[in-house]
Amino acid sequence: MCGIVGYIGPRQAFPIVINGLKRLEYRGYDSAGIAIINPDKQTFNVYKYKGKVADLENNTIGKDLTGNIGIGHTRWATHGEPNDINAHPHVSMNKKFIIIHNGIIENYARLKKRLEDRCYKFTSQTDTEVLVNLIEYIYIKGQVSAEIAIRLALTKVEGAYGILVLCTDEPNTIFAARKGSPLVVGIGEGEYFFASDATPIIEHTNRVVFLNDNDVAIVKPDQVTFKTIMNVPVTPTIQELDMDIGEIEKGGYEHFMLKEIFEQPRAIEDTIRGRISIDKKEITLGGLYNVMDKLVHAKRIIIIGCGTSWHAGLVGEYLLEDIARIPVEVEYASEFRYRNPVLYPDDIIIAISQSGETADTLAAIKLAKQAGCTVLGICNVVGSSIPRETHAGVYTHAGPEIGVASTKAFTAQVTVLTMMAVLLGFKRKTISDTQYKHFIEHIYSIPSKIEKILEKHQQIKELAEKYFNITNSLYLGRGYLFPVALEGALKLKEISYIHAEGYPAAEMKHGPIALIDEHMPVIVLASKDKSYEKIVSNIQEVKARKGIVIAIVTEGDETITKLADHVFEIPETPDILTPLISVIPLQLLSYYIAVLRGCNVDQPRNLAKSVTVE
Ligand code: G6P
Repeated sequence: MCGIVGYIGPRQAFPIVINGLKRLEYRGYDSAGIAIINPDKQTFNVYKYKGKVADLENNTIGKDLTGNIGIGHTRWATHGEPNDINAHPHVSMNKKFIIIHNGIIENYARLKKRLEDRCYKFTSQTDTEVLVNLIEYIYIKGQVSAEIAIRLALTKVEGAYGILVLCTDEPNTIFAARKGSPLVVGIGEGEYFFASDATPIIEHTNRVVFLNDNDVAIVKPDQVTFKTIMNVPVTPTIQELDMDIGEIEKGGYEHFMLKEIFEQPRAIEDTIRGRISIDKKEITLGGLYNVMDKLVHAKRIIIIGCGTSWHAGLVGEYLLEDIARIPVEVEYASEFRYRNPVLYPDDIIIAISQSGETADTLAAIKLAKQAGCTVLGICNVVGSSIPRETHAGVYTHAGPEIGVASTKAFTAQVTVLTMMAVLLGFKRKTISDTQYKHFIEHIYSIPSKIEKILEKHQQIKELAEKYFNITNSLYLGRGYLFPVALEGALKLKEISYIHAEGYPAAEMKHGPIALIDEHMPVIVLASKDKSYEKIVSNIQEVKARKGIVIAIVTEGDETITKLADHVFEIPETPDILTPLISVIPLQLLSYYIAVLRGCNVDQPRNLAKSVTVE
């Protein structure tokens, strides 16, 4: 939620900040703004507009953009509707401070009231304007330096923030601070970069510092100081990132989402690389080494996540219970954190998150840690908050995912969960040695099976051409394919704004069947697994009510091919691996439908990729 970018150094800040904002636009695109300081001329300029970064760029043509210190923001609105006034940066009443902010100041109303009592006037409806004025109030009233004013103000706020602050009296400095919302400082040669994640920084330097909660960085062109808001010095850990600029560009694809769908064979290969040895026929998950004993003897696993990551968690439940025979519960992080769950110190919590920054998931982790549970993470973004907050974990190596609708992160998460379940099944002797080896061989063959599906993308495109005007749809699956039905429906509604519902196929007769008529496409996940006969009956139930059946079937299927209106074949694979391949045609279907409806596939309305507010 909200992307922030900053630059200080010898170069002109504007192009660097604008470019960075474009890379972070997936975090929110309600409005965009920039502030630039020109210390030589002792001037500063702030430009901010409702709309996207491209609108900011167009609106600033011909304006004074000179200056080598700049901060920029792309917003996902929380407090106050998306408009020019509520856009960031926000400038304090006496123009001493300029701020950009990602997060929510929860006690802003109380602080605002106190500032209003002291004659402060506000122009926007945002919590951020309260913070910048609080800083200024302390600065003027307390006659303290900008740094002290910022640190003191931050001790007064409740909530989450990643902020960059400029002080017009001290124009050679950018102040950065974080609590709850991510912030990365890039260390260049005589120049520094700031961003909500590393993607805007990587083209300039791969040396970065991830700020910790309550840390402040005071950055001048020739000097950087890290400390806590309580003024305790911090020795930063400089990390060298292994990220390639090509990974964050579209590489010839029309959209990031399409690129990411097509990247899945490679993403899964990277996720299993070094973890599955096809020669030795073994699985090694180094990140779980220290907790393996606890995992093997676990009495209960609770999986938490949001959105698509929650769907991956549901697949995890089926896998871990079926293969490793460990009881599993799957919880929405937002519910788990507030419903006073019963937790035991020997519970294992697995938090799943692409971004590693989702606020509800982070809060749920903290709750579980307080209860003494062992918390593991399955995350994609290296160095993000969740891997740092958890006791152990496994990274998915899907590479940067930019499209707001998650695709390759989902299959990479499911791949990690599959490896975990198979390894635990082997260690707990709930599967035989032969089954263990058999599963390893099949996991290894998943990338090539996905390749085969992707080669047939034209078939899915034709289906999309036929059905892109629908208003409703139903996705059905049983067993391992029920979570995939949920994920398929989520993909369609997220990016094409078509109402779609995922359901366990047998539950259809308890409600959704009432919706079925000749206009209702029903997408049925019907590969040959142990529920096959049952799903054939469900298809018959749909056809009896004249519904349109689009079935995802195993290669060579004859029964459903005769019954369904359309079939799409996927390669044969053991039941436990069907989620990994059957989700691919559903991702493609939603993508092509959204494109045909003229939707903004990579940045669907109202959504953001990284939800750092609750
Ligand atoms: C947002 C994104 C989803 C994502 C969810 C959880 O809603 O749009 O694609 O699944 O957040 O995000 P996480 O980064 O924790 O997986």
